[in-house]
Amino acid sequence: MSISYKELGLVNSKELFAKAVAGGYAIPAYNFNNLEQLQSILMACVETKSPVILQVSSGARKYANATLLRNMAKGAVEYVKELGCEIPIVLHLDHGDTFELCKECIDSGFSSVMIDGSHHSYEENIALTKKVVEYAHSKGVTVEGELGILAGVEDDVVAEESTYTRPEEVEDFVKRTGVDSLAISIGTSHGAHKFTPEQCTKNEDGVLVPPPLKFEILEEIEKRIPGFPIVLHGASSVPVEHVNTINENGGAIKAAVGIPEEQLRKAAKSAVCKINIDSDGRLAMTAAVRKVMAENPGEFDPRKYLGPARDALKELYMHKNKNVLGSAGKA
Ligand code: G3H
Ligand code: 13P
Ligand code: ZN
Repeated sequence: MSISYKELGLVNSKELFAKAVAGGYAIPAYNFNNLEQLQSILMACVETKSPVILQVSSGARKYANATLLRNMAKGAVEYVKELGCEIPIVLHLDHGDTFELCKECIDSGFSSVMIDGSHHSYEENIALTKKVVEYAHSKGVTVEGELGILAGVEDDVVAEESTYTRPEEVEDFVKRTGVDSLAISIGTSHGAHKFTPEQCTKNEDGVLVPPPLKFEILEEIEKRIPGFPIVLHGASSVPVEHVNTINENGGAIKAAVGIPEEQLRKAAKSAVCKINIDSDGRLAMTAAVRKVMAENPGEFDPRKYLGPARDALKELYMHKNKNVLGSAGKA
């Protein structure tokens, strides 16, 4: 039995992206795998009146069960009503790697899917993406494609170095596939170690400062497909305070470096209208859990450590919406 996202009260990304591009802000795309992550995303987005993209990876589907996740998204729509603010909610498949996975998600209530064909040849990427677009559009579901490869791990594929998006390909790719948005590679990467210490300089406090993103590539892309919605993956900033809290409380996260907020603010003002953040939430949550555990070694009620983790996550997401992406007040 197939379920439409409309029955769940979700929306696709079409109108949200059009408004975000015109308004010079980006919609947050936050990954979730469990109840506390979902609660904090929703509480933060309701409180800041921000539209939101709830992002589910194939790892999340394996971890949390696809049926439960779908019903959590349905619950999310009812929950935000209860909180008194009906923000638009998109349920999005993050890094879909096959037509079959995208179809399964579309048939089970997702309103948006990513088909990440960037590890294939250009022509194979086009063929795969087009096939997903044809099916998705027949159901009103929007599709994100990708051109260029981010350094780090994508779909269990490890790339040593980024292959930046080639601006000369974007127009052809968008035209031939019919995608609704395009993820690009301009120097971001997944995880908490986006740059090696050798790639960075140090500021006066000894904090590693990464090289800037390749804004010249973004500008060239914008010239070729004006106003087309662009997506930035790997956009966590890796807040030093959370890394320090983790390390001060028994953790060992070394030389972690993210994307400075200033650069994300700049990107959000451009055609970048969706910014993906997962690692920052993982760090905030882990920092809070480690702190409670270290300070209260006798604690064994999960609510006593997941509750503070949820509060820390909510604060992080509110900060992103208000001070980095500019999505606050846009619901
Ligand atoms: O892009 C990757 C996201 O952070 C999801 O990560 O595949 O470990 O769930 P995951
Ligand atoms: P981060 O690892 O930088 O949070 O990126 C997440 C992401 O791109 C999910 O698709
Ligand atoms: Zn990603």
